[in-house]
Amino acid sequence: MRLLVAYGSKMGGTKGLAEMLGDDFRDLGHDVEVRSGDDVADVSSFDAVVVGGALYYFISWHKDAKAVLRRHHKALREMPVWLFSSGPLDESATEKEIPPIRPVMRAMERVGARGHITFGGRLEESNRGLPVGDWRKPEHVRKWAEQIHAELVADGA
Ligand SMILES: Cc1cc2nc3c(=O)[nH]c(=O)nc-3n(C[C@H](O)[C@H](O)[C@H](O)COP(=O)(O)O)c2cc1C
Repeated sequence: MRLLVAYGSKMGGTKGLAEMLGDDFRDLGHDVEVRSGDDVADVSSFDAVVVGGALYYFISWHKDAKAVLRRHHKALREMPVWLFSSGPLDESATEKEIPPIRPVMRAMERVGARGHITFGGRLEESNRGLPVGDWRKPEHVRKWAEQIHAELVADGA
């Protein structure tokens, strides 16, 4: 299947997660495009779409991720869509399920998204006293890619 992974990323961490997902989907046999959300002109040539955004200030999902859902909400309503957020600067995302923040929840409803996951984040330089480190886990990403793949295969069966 042809899959789009679109991301909204300020400092590259969420872009990296989108690329990991893209590689996992390719390994699972899909044809994948990974793009910044502000660079998505059309979604109609894809069979499924994943949109991921970086979390900021407890209430904000990156604008490029929001843009994809806003611009293409009609088309997205008619296709399988999953969303992800990133990310807590600790182990919490692998220890428990972290629900979407309210604006992401609303976006999920608007496009009829099938699911959402929160992945750990990454911070390379000290910022506002936040911890520096990388809590993105390739195996967490891989597991989610496999779940999505299984759903898409079940749809086609
Ligand atoms: C100023 C600032 C505010 C942040 N606020 C949140 C937040 O509210 N929730 C959260 O989970 N992570 C928060 N983070 C962590 C980022 O989401 C994390 O660093 C993420 O990996 C950044 O993604 P990006 O590199 O794609 O921009 C914050 C980071 C910074 C620097």
